Amino acid sequence: MKLTAETVIKQRILQKEAISFKEFMEIALYHSEVGYYTSAKSIIENFFTSPLAHPAFGASLCLQLNQMWKSMGEPQEFYVLEVGCGDGVLAQDIIGYAHINRLPFLDALEYVAVDRSKSLISSLSGIDGLNKVVSSLDSFKNVVGCVISNELLDSFPVNRFKIIDGEVYEIMVSLSNGRFCELLSKEPDPIINERLSNLKKDLPNNFEGEINGYIKSWVKSLSQVLSNGFVITIDYGNDHVDLYNPVNTQSSIRSYHRHAQPISIYDQIGYCDITSDVDFSWLISQSENFGLRSLYFLNQKEYLYRWGVENWIDGIRMKKVSQNVLNRNLVGIRQLVRDDAFGQFKVLIQYIGEESDRLDSILPTKEYSKSYPAPMLTNKHADYLSSKYPHIAEIEFDRLFF
Ligand SMILES: C[S@@+](CC[C@H](N)C(=O)[O-])C[C@H]1O[C@@H](n2cnc3c(N)ncnc32)[C@H](O)[C@@H]1O
Repeated sequence: MKLTAETVIKQRILQKEAISFKEFMEIALYHSEVGYYTSAKSIIENFFTSPLAHPAFGASLCLQLNQMWKSMGEPQEFYVLEVGCGDGVLAQDIIGYAHINRLPFLDALEYVAVDRSKSLISSLSGIDGLNKVVSSLDSFKNVVGCVISNELLDSFPVNRFKIIDGEVYEIMVSLSNGRFCELLSKEPDPIINERLSNLKKDLPNNFEGEINGYIKSWVKSLSQVLSNGFVITIDYGNDHVDLYNPVNTQSSIRSYHRHAQPISIYDQIGYCDITSDVDFSWLISQSENFGLRSLYFLNQKEYLYRWGVENWIDGIRMKKVSQNVLNRNLVGIRQLVRDDAFGQFKVLIQYIGEESDRLDSILPTKEYSKSYPAPMLTNKHADYLSSKYPHIAEIEFDRLFF
């Protein structure tokens, strides 16, 4: 029988009768040979994330890192550990923009790309400016710098639960006549009750949700990796008020094939991304236990406006380029701030280490980005316009959109 994520999961269920959703998701995404992220097949075509939408995302983060380095008193060595770096586009945009603008933090920069997927990182080793490519943070202890991630935490395997008559049940995955089915366990993983201890009383009958238990070990590892520095976490999700909301009883767990229409989480296993909203309230409170203080919690739209993204939009309009290039850039950059696209993502900035008055200056004034040129799409970015709306790629539509 051909080895697939589905066959591995089915064998595991036959041994145990039922497995947790966390175990199901762990195999589907990260099985060493057949997981969605870790297998040798290319998953890049399935992605559409902010770094791919437009290099203005990486350019803003590049300026952000330079500003953080300054606020820390310009240390001689400044590590940027990008975890879940995927295909390395963000790394290339950050490093490239720092070079073009000769940003002073470059001399101190040690850029490390980290991804659990060995097949993904094996393709990154030749990239200019990347100091190291590794599959985990384990070898880094007490460094000075910044840990950065985009759409990492939403891909951590989660436990799922359901409330019935005030009791918490764990949703398990089993088989019925060879097909996947869900069973409820009366003995939920302790992490579920730990997270729900203060929330359960507000949740109505049939409420379904998920608990991202890896958040605990993630923040612990951050506190060991960084002696002094920042953590920038960008992802979809919200605070507990939104996620564990009595009105919204549907779980946020979902599966995407080619980042298009969501499909059933039990379809195309190992060929699809499975993901859920990040519980930022828990991330923030767990972080505090390990000395990580939250400085800013903003929407991506607000965040990029703080970095003056509109100056770059104006800058793109002024460029002497073809209508097609202009349109592609305007549509790409706009995806970063649209409320129905990446604009609603959250940006959490945290700090660990010595207190400093200069931490207040890590976000700039709106004028700041005016001194830096608008970055433009390259062939490593996605061509969102041509793939979605080829019929308008050449039309002069700019004013309709902005
Ligand atoms: C949704 S992709 C995001 C990729 C990239 N950051 C982007 O924005 O395009 C999530 C990535 O995180 C990686 N990943 C998941 N868990 C990880 C972990 N514990 N350590 C390092 N990488 C991890 C996956 O292999 C995958 O490449």
